[in-house]
Amino acid sequence: MTVGHRVPAEPVRSLRPHATVAERTEPTMPVPTSAVSAEHQDLDLRLVSGEWPSDLRGDAVFSAPQVAHDLPFALFGFGVVCRLSLQGGRHGAAGDRFAWRTRVIDSPSQRLHAAAPEVFAPGPTGYLSPFGFPNCANTAPLPWDGRLFATWDVGRPVEIDPVELTFRGDVGSQSSWGSPTLPGASVLPFYFSTAHPVIDPERQCLWTVKQTFTMDGGTQLHVVHWDGLGTEVRVWPITNGIVYGSSHTVSQTRDFLVLADSGNFKADPGEMAGGPRTATIDDDAAVYLVRKDQLLGSPNGTPHEGQPFRVAPTTGHFYGRWDDTDGVRVIFEHMDRMDLGQRLRADDLDALGRPVDPGLVGFYNTAMAPSTISEVLFDPATGVSKQEAVFCDDWTWNLELSAMDWSVEALTDPKLHHVAYQGYRPGAVSQRAVHLYGERLGPLPGDDTPGALVSFSRGSLDVHARWDYPDPGDHITSPTFVPRLDAPRGGQNGWVVLPVLSDDGFRVELFDAADVGRGPVATLAAPNRECVPVLLHSAWMRDDDTPVDAERLRFADDVPEGALDALGPELAGVVRRVADDLDAALG
Ligand SMILES: [Fe+2]
Repeated sequence: MTVGHRVPAEPVRSLRPHATVAERTEPTMPVPTSAVSAEHQDLDLRLVSGEWPSDLRGDAVFSAPQVAHDLPFALFGFGVVCRLSLQGGRHGAAGDRFAWRTRVIDSPSQRLHAAAPEVFAPGPTGYLSPFGFPNCANTAPLPWDGRLFATWDVGRPVEIDPVELTFRGDVGSQSSWGSPTLPGASVLPFYFSTAHPVIDPERQCLWTVKQTFTMDGGTQLHVVHWDGLGTEVRVWPITNGIVYGSSHTVSQTRDFLVLADSGNFKADPGEMAGGPRTATIDDDAAVYLVRKDQLLGSPNGTPHEGQPFRVAPTTGHFYGRWDDTDGVRVIFEHMDRMDLGQRLRADDLDALGRPVDPGLVGFYNTAMAPSTISEVLFDPATGVSKQEAVFCDDWTWNLELSAMDWSVEALTDPKLHHVAYQGYRPGAVSQRAVHLYGERLGPLPGDDTPGALVSFSRGSLDVHARWDYPDPGDHITSPTFVPRLDAPRGGQNGWVVLPVLSDDGFRVELFDAADVGRGPVATLAAPNRECVPVLLHSAWMRDDDTPVDAERLRFADDVPEGALDALGPELAGVVRRVADDLDAALG
């Protein structure tokens, strides 16, 4: 194991019991306020240290929400795609500069908002409008053999042009997705889904989910399958597949889909009625294994059962090994005591008793326990699961996102899993949330702790290498693995691209994936210390793919019968103009 630091290391301060009394009042910047206030913009990044390897290829693409100052929760803005060219001199940048290009996705939802913003009302879960529920597609980029999709938890995946970053079409017509999560024939349907559909490399299809409400306040999972060729999806209900949080990730092995209750977000009826938030997340969550071939061998709509398991703690992201001949092996990135239903309010005190920084109001309440990762073996034959490896330490706060090699070779025999931890941020933890969880929390550190980029050995979850970011002003975000194409795959041969948000200016650090503990081999920086706001997930895309010719769903063909009549002539005219504009833009 190698451990490195960006600056001479500061020891992690010792843990101590809950900080629930006012102790410090001076303002601090635990999370850069530019993360929720800077505007997305094109930048030509310059190399400020190290040497940029000449054999990097392709682009790193990122999803992000547009900074929407009228929304109470900063993560619900319309989707933006940012693309970093991994070679200098591309996409209009000078030869020694690296193009960072950003576009707001001009989906039907975004175009309708732009055409009639006055009828979009900001709410706690995004915008509501007479057109229905906008699909913000702001959470994750999903490349698929030269095509690019953007996703989020509450809508269909949308396809975007991988070069122009413009909207191409929604995945699957409303008529084929079937009843939306909230009933009604809307121009913009509400589909509670997943932010992480998965591409099946052998069957050449996309697997995702739809959720419909149950009588007891949960939702029932339906598996959604798309072959990528037309405008129709197939949908099968999973009769026992009930979740109470969200289905943030869909994962897979060769033969199974792995579905789970993320467990990190719960709707709170009392809060929705105007009262205080009292709902808390559970200590464990449901996992369901579903056989792919049983779905595909049955008519559309046939009910199926998943095989149920439990996993703890709650989890946002998880990834199955492709080979499942001796069971279904999954690496879980747990989100211990991370309650995404809690966000920072203007009247909150932070975990150290200070008023919350006004610049962070609307940001989510960050982790209240160190984060765990685990590898679990599920045996579909016996229904028994076994935790084969686990790692959690007093420095593993705020497991943010990870980077891995998505090739089939690497999914079959993964070697390294790269994880970004942001460190403990007391300024982004409210005393309100600390009190709500009470004895369910362990000791909290007395101050900010370093963030870190860490490589874990798959199988054992031993720390292979670690690089610390002791400056809490460095807000490390979504890492991306870029493979070295002429070397064995598995996450160990290539690079990790790590964007760092900071009020001192945006930078991108590049690590040798074999040993991130050596520190960045090269760093790019915004030329005039420009800042970049919150980035969510990222992915690596090859840039040598040719445009893919496929049938795509026309927005005009997707508007349900009667939906325009219900809008009245003026708003119906807005929809028709947006449909015409999209037809013209898409040729
Ligand atoms: Fe996610």
